[in-house]
Amino acid sequence: AKGAAMVTAVAYRLADQSRQIAQTLAEFRLTKEQLLVVKRKMRIEIENGLGKQSHNTSTVKMLPTFVRSTPDGTEHGDFLALDLGGTNFRVLLVKIRSGKRRTVEMHNKIYAIPLEIMQGTGEELFDHIVHCISDFLDYMGMKNARLPLGFTFSFPCKQTSLDAGILIKWTKGFKATDCEGEDVVNLLREGIKRREEFDLDVVAVVNDTVGTMMTCAYEEPTCEIGLIAGTGSNACYMEEMRNIETVEGTEGRMCVNMEWGAFGDNGCLDDIRTKYDEAVDELSLNAGKQKYEKMCSGMYLGEIVRNILIDLTKRGFLFRGQISETLKTRGIFETKFLSQIESDRLALLQVRSILQQLGLDSTCDDSIIVKEVCGTVSRRAAQLCGAGMAAVVDKIRENRGLDHLDITVGVDGTLYKSGLPVMHQTVKELAPQCDVNFLLSEDGSGKGAALITAVGCRMRQQEQQ
Ligand code: GLC
Repeated sequence: AKGAAMVTAVAYRLADQSRQIAQTLAEFRLTKEQLLVVKRKMRIEIENGLGKQSHNTSTVKMLPTFVRSTPDGTEHGDFLALDLGGTNFRVLLVKIRSGKRRTVEMHNKIYAIPLEIMQGTGEELFDHIVHCISDFLDYMGMKNARLPLGFTFSFPCKQTSLDAGILIKWTKGFKATDCEGEDVVNLLREGIKRREEFDLDVVAVVNDTVGTMMTCAYEEPTCEIGLIAGTGSNACYMEEMRNIETVEGTEGRMCVNMEWGAFGDNGCLDDIRTKYDEAVDELSLNAGKQKYEKMCSGMYLGEIVRNILIDLTKRGFLFRGQISETLKTRGIFETKFLSQIESDRLALLQVRSILQQLGLDSTCDDSIIVKEVCGTVSRRAAQLCGAGMAAVVDKIRENRGLDHLDITVGVDGTLYKSGLPVMHQTVKELAPQCDVNFLLSEDGSGKGAALITAVGCRMRQQEQQ
């Protein structure tokens, strides 16, 4: 009888435990109604960002990019592109050939940006960038070419032309001093001058979302939206000039960099943020900022997971109640682990071996819980991103006075290789009058910067004639 009582006690404890875990994760499961509210709020912020009066105080900035059309296939030439703002810094040589057999050939080199440079002085950062360009030009044997350059700079910039962009605020892991409020094209030109080694013609500064949209539009003309779901989260799309009250002119369209990562910074998402989201925000470089991004993007999802796991461990549901040093380490759950762990194709034994690699000793039960946590957090990210996208496609549909819109979104970023189906489903449910096709772009931002530079050069020549 004693044995039976113990078994019952254990069964009770287990049932209670799984109920509590389920309760913890329930906060991350958003209903369709909640997601519709997110969509509606995003739409309000979009209008605020575009409006002349409301722009200054709006959280979603809706920044004009001075990109007025997607590529038409006549772009050609050799270009340099820089890509700063993701996990790595890259320098690229892009050769675009037009005509019957359009081709884009790319050579690139990846350079690490050490943490002390990301968070040092602006001069050090740009000296480092120019040093990398110099190395690349040596490597390609092109020091004397003076090529036109497109600078993919994936941070919020206030642009007054294609080749001027004032950094509004660093986001993600960057914090270099003396850059905010400065034109980053100038900072780059000054860095090149300081080195006195080579000359470059900086033609365009480009957000990664815009580069991605342009790259996909080169293959697929219905692509008029760009989406990044990587280290950060952001989108851009072709907006009607008449709606962009922050630039002169009413004819045609212009691409706007939404900077939607800052959605929620006025507190409008606080009702769906959990205490884990708050903890991640508080420990970040930019507390109180980029709240939507912190629920959606790779740089933060792993941290949300880690915070949940710590909590579950403290409550005795995981890792035998022992919080290891590893679990206390910020940043251990990189995106790549996250998407591996939540993948359906991965057996539990493999989940355990990943955890083992990370230095976390798990039982089989632990691995089930960890997998569920990862899946839940990623799913919410994809749904939230889908809700934002639903607001965008409906806005475009209304702009064009259509009952039905077919449109393509160019997507880049490691996160949504797995999250794409969930995001797609969410957009379908929340914007039923739109058929949205997601096109994955490999290497979008570098190629896109070159395409935009090509258009910039063409426009310049037309002006000179
Ligand atoms: C951050 C940046 C934004 C960029 C995004 C994706 O949100 O502010 O400019 O597009 O990350 O890299």
